[in-house]
Amino acid sequence: MSNVIQASNLTLAYDKGRKEIIKDANFSIKKGDFVFITGPSGSGKSTLLKSLYGQLKPSKGNLVVGGNDLAHISRGKLQELRTHMGIIFQDYKLVNEWNVSKNVVLPLMIRGYSNEIQETQARRLLKHVKLSDAGERYPLELSGGEQQRVGVARALSSNPVVILADEPTGNLDDYSSNVIWDLMENACQQLETTVLVVTHKIPTIFSLPYRHFIIESKGVYEVH
Ligand SMILES: Nc1ncnc2c1ncn2[C@@H]1O[C@H](COP(=O)(O)OP(=O)(O)OP(=O)(O)O)[C@@H](O)[C@H]1O
Ligand SMILES: [Mg+2]
Repeated sequence: MSNVIQASNLTLAYDKGRKEIIKDANFSIKKGDFVFITGPSGSGKSTLLKSLYGQLKPSKGNLVVGGNDLAHISRGKLQELRTHMGIIFQDYKLVNEWNVSKNVVLPLMIRGYSNEIQETQARRLLKHVKLSDAGERYPLELSGGEQQRVGVARALSSNPVVILADEPTGNLDDYSSNVIWDLMENACQQLETTVLVVTHKIPTIFSLPYRHFIIESKGVYEVH
């Protein structure tokens, strides 16, 4: 039961099962694991993340996340599960009409936390992502790297059990990338957050032990 994620003969497909992307994958991920996922473009990395947050159901096999069988989970249960997940997208997905602070605490607003808690948490996180002065600004007034750091702060704001990140440092310079890797390392180390990151380049300066999965020819393989 210590596995946060357990895939057994997991098959993921589009077009009503006709187009198989991942076939018969078996892997398990424990609390506090840090996993990098690499693989060629179109191999199914984003598809795998989609399945982990319940946006794509397994077409065969089993996928259990936090004790929930994702093939048969109810809408309500899935919503509850997602409140324990921090999701980081390559294209940020910030709300452009909201200022940076409000974007960061969106998960806390959804969960009904007080304004006071929201403000404290926004300040703390913006400091972590080195954007202390940006709280009142709007996403479109920030650079790509700054917007992505806001996205990372938002994903961490509700102390998630699992972080799922899809190319979080895709187009960023070394400075923004390092801020993001540092934050994820800290979350993993200090809070035992389980982290899964799709990336095309595993950072060279990385101080935690990590696992490396490669997706290729519909398979998910662990490299040692
Ligand atoms: N909604 C969809 N319907 C049908 N096919 C899809 C859908 N989304 C993705 N695909 C296909 O599934 C395959 C895997 O896509 P996916 O986005 O998971 O790849 P990826 O490994 O994340 O690639 P990249 O590195 O380019 O982001 C691709 O062939 C893609 O065209
Ligand atoms: Mg992708």
